[in-house]
Amino acid sequence: MAAQNLEQIVSLCKRRGFIFPGSDIYGGMQGTYDYGPLGVELKNNLKRLWWKHNVYERDDMEGIETAILMNKYVWKYSGHEETFVDPLVDCKTCKGRFREDKLQDAQCLKHPKLHPGECEGELTEPRAFNLMFKTQVGPLADPDSYAYLRPETAQGMFVNFKNVLDSTNRKLPFGIAQIGKSFRNEITPRNFLFRVRELEQMEIEYFVHAGQDEDWHEKWIQDHLEWWINEVGLSRDKLQLYEHPKEKLSHYSKRTVDILYDFPTLGFDELEGIANRTDFDLGSHSREQDKLGLSAKVMKNEHSTEKLTYFDQPTNKHIVPFVVEPAAGVDRGVLAALCEAYDEETLVDANGKSEIRTVLRLKPALAPIKVAVLPLKKNADEIVAVGKSIKNMLQASGAMRAVYDDTAGIGKLYRRQDEVGTPFCVTVDFDTLGQGQDPNLKDTVTIRDRDTMLQERIPISSLLDYVQKRI
Ligand code: GAP
Repeated sequence: MAAQNLEQIVSLCKRRGFIFPGSDIYGGMQGTYDYGPLGVELKNNLKRLWWKHNVYERDDMEGIETAILMNKYVWKYSGHEETFVDPLVDCKTCKGRFREDKLQDAQCLKHPKLHPGECEGELTEPRAFNLMFKTQVGPLADPDSYAYLRPETAQGMFVNFKNVLDSTNRKLPFGIAQIGKSFRNEITPRNFLFRVRELEQMEIEYFVHAGQDEDWHEKWIQDHLEWWINEVGLSRDKLQLYEHPKEKLSHYSKRTVDILYDFPTLGFDELEGIANRTDFDLGSHSREQDKLGLSAKVMKNEHSTEKLTYFDQPTNKHIVPFVVEPAAGVDRGVLAALCEAYDEETLVDANGKSEIRTVLRLKPALAPIKVAVLPLKKNADEIVAVGKSIKNMLQASGAMRAVYDDTAGIGKLYRRQDEVGTPFCVTVDFDTLGQGQDPNLKDTVTIRDRDTMLQERIPISSLLDYVQKRI
């Protein structure tokens, strides 16, 4: 049975060390989460898969990592200072603060069964609340020396467009990819990792000739939809494409399509947005904009020192490329992968007794631990020594995280590993030592598959190869 609600995922994550509430021992910090020993592995694996697909496996991409703190003018000319706002309303009775456009997702503080506005409380007129975190830069409290924590990684790629172009000699079409932290002062952070104040994004800015933007937009939508299915393992029927209505598009967008995932409790909601941003961004951050023939309407830039243009040899002209932007949330990706993988299965033994097995059916490439080595007997020194040496051999390959565990009986150890999604459990027994009934089984181990629970016996010498082929 799949997860019925987010609470099941939250509880598993805390219990097994995937994700903890931020600053927990001081009562928490709303909208922040800490990734534990297993969570960080899962998150790194997701990011690695994304980077492999979007950077290594293509020949038209460059990766970068830009600073979280950027010059304040970046956010002026990107439009964030003016438009990166949510409509905020206050309840005059319960003093709650809510997003006016998300009242249906919020609870009245006095009557949690009601949405704000449905109770006796009167809501104020909405006012614009900017979601960027502002911070002081340097030791002087000078009102002008402020910066924002970036609310998206995208701008780091736009302002480095020239640097990347000049240092790599790329020709259109080409893209820049970045994975990194972003910060948004969400009015109501909620639903676990879904809406947080400190988040991580995986974004691409893909630069193309105007006129080719619509085709490339379509290609990226299909490519990333397939990535979520084939690489992350999300089911097609839990994914939907959502076309933003023209009148609701962001200020920079000609067309935006979201990839939505059917999260338990929340229903279908955004996992990734793929926008056609035209020449808005490169145009906005350029000087002498009136000479650039921009199609987008931009604010007059009085501070940039560069023209973010591309020299197009065939036409002998400097042009401003259009950009297509696939922008996904790492945390939402982790959450979707966990929700998809969660399964509760009823097992019935030979005596008709039933038991629930919780198993995370993560794609092996995403699983935090690839192999758990378990001794059949923990007080048999030789078995323990062989078990530990197998674990060391697997881990020394550099290809995976492997663990050795002898802190419970074998049945319990299997269940523990099932619950965290470990695809393979290796058991060392007396046959491995050549002390069982069949001497031919010396130097072999059993390897158990998480999903089928079937076991096979293989030589220790072929174990690494066996696992590597399957992860
Ligand atoms: N550069 C474009 C951009 O940032 P966005 O739709 O605002 O677009 C991209 O964000 C992705 O980042 C979203 O699809 C979502 O997965 C993730 N995201 C945005 N805000 C988030 C939040 N408060 N918590 C978790 N993830 C968030």
